[in-house]
Amino acid sequence: MTGLLEPRAIGQSPVRRDGELKVRGTAVYAMETPVENPAYCHPVQATVARGRVTAVDTAAAEALDGVLAVLTPFNAERLADTSDGEFAVLQEPDVAFRGQLIGVVVAETSELARQAADAVRVSYAEQPHDSVLSADRDDLYKPDQVNPSFETDTAEGDVAAAMATAEVTLEHTYETAMYHNNPLEPHATTALWDPAGAGFLTLWDSTQGVHPDRAAVCQVFGLDEDQVRVVCPYVGGGFGSKGQPHAHVMLATMAARALPGRPVKLAMTRQQMFFLTGYRTPTIQRVQLAADHRGRLSAIALDVVEQTSKVKEFAEQTGVPTRMMYASPSRRTTHRLAALDVPVNSWMRAPGECPGMFGPEVALDELAETLGIDPVELRIVNEPEVDPETGKPWSSRHLVECLREGAQRFGWSSRGARGHRDGDWLVGLGVASSVYPTMRQAQSTANVRFENGRYVAEIGAADLGTGAWTILPQIAADALGVDLADVDVRLGDTRYPTASVAGGSSGTNTWGSAITVAARAFREKFGADPREGDETSGDVDQADQDDEHAAYAFGAQFVEARVNADTGEIRVPRLIGVFGVGRVINPRTARSQLIGGMTMGLSMALHENSAFDTRLGQVANHDLAEYHITVNADVGEIEAHWLDEHDPYVNAMGSKGIGEIGITGTAAAVVNAVHHATGVRVRSLPVTLDKLLPGLG
Ligand code: MOS
Repeated sequence: MTGLLEPRAIGQSPVRRDGELKVRGTAVYAMETPVENPAYCHPVQATVARGRVTAVDTAAAEALDGVLAVLTPFNAERLADTSDGEFAVLQEPDVAFRGQLIGVVVAETSELARQAADAVRVSYAEQPHDSVLSADRDDLYKPDQVNPSFETDTAEGDVAAAMATAEVTLEHTYETAMYHNNPLEPHATTALWDPAGAGFLTLWDSTQGVHPDRAAVCQVFGLDEDQVRVVCPYVGGGFGSKGQPHAHVMLATMAARALPGRPVKLAMTRQQMFFLTGYRTPTIQRVQLAADHRGRLSAIALDVVEQTSKVKEFAEQTGVPTRMMYASPSRRTTHRLAALDVPVNSWMRAPGECPGMFGPEVALDELAETLGIDPVELRIVNEPEVDPETGKPWSSRHLVECLREGAQRFGWSSRGARGHRDGDWLVGLGVASSVYPTMRQAQSTANVRFENGRYVAEIGAADLGTGAWTILPQIAADALGVDLADVDVRLGDTRYPTASVAGGSSGTNTWGSAITVAARAFREKFGADPREGDETSGDVDQADQDDEHAAYAFGAQFVEARVNADTGEIRVPRLIGVFGVGRVINPRTARSQLIGGMTMGLSMALHENSAFDTRLGQVANHDLAEYHITVNADVGEIEAHWLDEHDPYVNAMGSKGIGEIGITGTAAAVVNAVHHATGVRVRSLPVTLDKLLPGLG
């Protein structure tokens, strides 16, 4: 098995290496790339939710002084590959959702581009659209697989028989809302097409992976990888929305090709992001539980209905955590999709696990109440010895320890069967479990070189604000056995070796593994006293990938909710999470990841909600004035703790990935605390006053 690194720099909390640049405003983001004489794009978006563009009148736009190009479905270049319906921009006059890209204006200034885009007159043959998600639709279908390649349905034992014979059963339907990623830095691309030779494209794109980004652009435009460079040293957040390129990247590339030699900039507005950069599907989750009087589950089932766009299927893997979370001899998960006239949904922090840990974790709370069992104990009673789905032993699983330590830190033992009243406020405590799979991508390569008397590790990895700039040097230093101060890294450029996407909480696990292989090879080859220019390269070692164990991070989250007895106003003064996430590389940046995830989970529970107007086929609250996100004032005391967990199986660092687990289970813990406070069970997110008031009496 993997030789674990001896932690020296690992486990320390050096400050962010990119911190000063960001605080001083000198870290260069995609839109700010200093380029000579840039032109600016503004997209033209469909104003019908379904139909066909019959004509585009660009005369008024083109008449404006300074407009350089207007591209429409009728004059845009034909793409080499249109198999991805999201990327096939301006190839067909058909409109599949409101806000879809149907044109772009390029002009001397961004203001002019916007003005000209407004002056483009579009005629449509409009058709009736359908964007209503419901579990009763007769056209729900079973996708071939769910993201990224899980089985759509699973069944073990006989859930129906267990439901018919168990001492206690429960069946409820839970719903999660539509949510949009809103990273601080909106999506942006600067594109430069150099017409010399065979042509060379440079993209400064805000992305979670320069190499996957390049691969997609090459496929769509029929380019060789050595014709394209993608650069992205800094990302102002992504959460999955920059994990794959979206249509605007193809639009910017197309615009740059129309103006060879001229750099072209495209920055999405916050409003455009609600149409064009992905979102989390709403889900409808039917949960069934069967148990004996001691709470031991005999059946757990989750049947999910969710949506996809028609131009590109995305099937969120909402049922996946139910397959492995608890011991139950009978288990069933299913996924059904409604294909609607809606924008393309995609990744948002912990796709699958995040919505999938809502319904079942609330249902467990309901079962605990029915049985009169403490919800912490109910989870412990159902702790599986091995992964219920695969039968494999866990690489490490410390959910019980997380629950116990969390309960102790939180003061859970003082909790009674009902919450209490404090003046005008109803106070309650809730708990839920967290989980996220530990992943390592198959491909990544790193170089290690001795240069100017320093060690340099190069890999095309992305730091979305997660801390990669800071923690990859820690890993490299330990793998080389040198001082952290003697190590530099270079990231975020396809000129460096191929790196996997910063997604699935796999970045550190994957890139750190490649760096470790390269560093160990360097030591072996050059000893302790290298010479200038000595260099090695290393790939993620597939032979070293353990597949004998089921590898997951686990956690437990505890919430205190206070609900105003008269107004229903909800406050969360305390949120405490305890996690088993393997070895923590850098406690400072790790804490930030975990409390960031927990805050986003609180936000999902109480604030965020893309209110989809099914008459128009668009998100009504498509800006940050009305799409509410939890802010500092909404978060009271928030603590993330972790166990001293050692896992020899996952990778050389012993790390499990921390970007996503923090958002899983949080919303259930909030709902459970609100129920404990008020007796009102809200099964549909977000928990808003209107859902509580009728029950407050
Ligand atoms: Mo994350 S949704 O895997 O970028």
